[in-house]
Amino acid sequence: MKKVPIGVLVSGSGSNLQSLIDRIEEGSLDARIRIVISNNPDAFALKRCEKHGIPAAVIRHADYPDRESFDRKMAEVLHAHDVDLVVMAGFMRILSSWFLREFPLRIMNIHPALLPAFPGLHVQRQAILHGAKFSGCTVHFADEGVDTGPIIIQAVVPVLDSDTEETLAARILKEEHRIYPQAIQLYAEGRLRVTGRRVSVPDNPTPGAAAIHNPPLTGF
Ligand code: GAR
Repeated sequence: MKKVPIGVLVSGSGSNLQSLIDRIEEGSLDARIRIVISNNPDAFALKRCEKHGIPAAVIRHADYPDRESFDRKMAEVLHAHDVDLVVMAGFMRILSSWFLREFPLRIMNIHPALLPAFPGLHVQRQAILHGAKFSGCTVHFADEGVDTGPIIIQAVVPVLDSDTEETLAARILKEEHRIYPQAIQLYAEGRLRVTGRRVSVPDNPTPGAAAIHNPPLTGF
């Protein structure tokens, strides 16, 4: 199958980037990472690129007078590498309207909560403080809002009584590393249909569980 050329935007550790690299290297994800862009010169994600021979660019947002001029520079680099799909992987900047129009329905983001619950920052802590029994992660297309775009795939994890922000984040991250490659593979296969806010996958098999409960039901 033809490999979809992607550009990955990062700001930090890049464990999601690593999950894409691993799936590409093992041949289960039909994508090619043409360029990684980091707004943070110290991002560990850049070391991962070095190790795997992936081209990377640092574009520091602080070097640009406003959001749009920073985004225009990113778009210039992405276009120069013939990127089809832009993948935000722990990229901690809000995109301008200009950038969103430049890549319509061609920008994905991953968020460590079950949207539309808990958009924004520190969302694992928010889920615990709220007393939510489930949280999870969401891959969605980016739109003008913060974490509001059409949802592609979600994974649900339980919130345990013993959870700290760190233990919950780790449980969620493990699922992020599974659903992001899956979302991109569906895109690569041309299987995502977007109608307004709804993203469907024709011929999608029925999900395994009809419902999950936390705490578990005791005979009801
Ligand atoms: C991930 O948990 C990702 O969902 C989150 O940052 C982390 C990045 O980890 N993104 C956001 O909160 C975006 N609003 P990584 O750099 O190891 O992939």
